[in-house]
Amino acid sequence: MPPSNPIVDAPLLAHRGASLYAPENTLQAVELAAKMGAKWIETDVQVTADNELVVIHDLELERTTNGAGFVALHTLEQIRALDAGSWFGNKISGYQVPTLQEFVACIVDNDLNLQLELKELPGRENDIADRVCSEIADIWPFERRKLFLSGFSERCLKRVARNLPDVPRAIALLCIPEDPDAYAAETGAQIIHVQDKFVDEEALRTIRASSMEFGVATVNDPERAKYLLNSGVTSILTDDPLLLEQDGVETRLRALAHQQ
Ligand code: G3P
Ligand code: CA
Repeated sequence: MPPSNPIVDAPLLAHRGASLYAPENTLQAVELAAKMGAKWIETDVQVTADNELVVIHDLELERTTNGAGFVALHTLEQIRALDAGSWFGNKISGYQVPTLQEFVACIVDNDLNLQLELKELPGRENDIADRVCSEIADIWPFERRKLFLSGFSERCLKRVARNLPDVPRAIALLCIPEDPDAYAAETGAQIIHVQDKFVDEEALRTIRASSMEFGVATVNDPERAKYLLNSGVTSILTDDPLLLEQDGVETRLRALAHQQ
C-alpha cells in the first residue's frame, strides 16, 4: 500500500521550476512556478571549482548558458558572469545561474518546498554530499518548509544520510526495482523516483504492492499524469506546473503569452 502520509504532500513537483515557460533552474522559473500554484520545486545543485554551490542541471555549461566546459572546472565568478536565459528565447536577458543560497531564499520567500538533487561528479560524491549538507544545515528553515535530498548515486545518498539523518531522501532510478522496499532500505531512501518511459503496467502493480513513496519523472502530458496518480504513484515531476489545470491548453497559452 502506498503511504497515507507522504513526504511530498502535493501531486506535482515543478521540475527545474516552471521550466516549460522560463529558463530552467533560474529564480525567475521558481517565481513563475509559485505564481502558477506549485507547492514543490525540484532542482539540481553542483559544486564549482572554488567549492561554491550553484543551481544548474547539466555537468557542462553549453546547453543552458553561453559558457563552455564543466561547471566543476569554473569558479563561481566565472559562472555568475554567464547568461543563463538567452538560450531559452532571444528576448530573455539578465538571467544568471543562481547560487544555492539565493535559490533557497527564493523558495522560502515564495512559500515553496524543495527537492534538492545532488548532481554527483563520479569520484567526488562524498565531497559534494558533505558540502551540500553543511550548507543546507545552515540555511534551510526546517521548522517552516519541507525538504528532501535526492540523487542517482547510492554512494552520495548514503553520505547524505550520515550527514543529515533527519532529512528525507529519494533515490533516483531509471526503472522500478523488483523489490522497491528492500532497495530503498539498502540505500536509506524514503522515496523512489523513476523515469516515466520505464513505467508500464507491471511497474504500476509493483508500486501498488509497495509501502514506498514513488515519484515519476518527467511527465508533461496531463492524461498520463492523471493516470499515474490514479495508479499508485504519489507524485509527478513536470516542467508544467499548470499540468492538472481544468482548462489546460487555454491556461497554458495565456501563461506563455504572459511570458513573451
Ligand atoms: O529525482 C529525479 C529527478 O530529479 C529527475 O531530474 O535531473 O534527471 O531531470 P533530472
Ligand atoms: Ca534533477
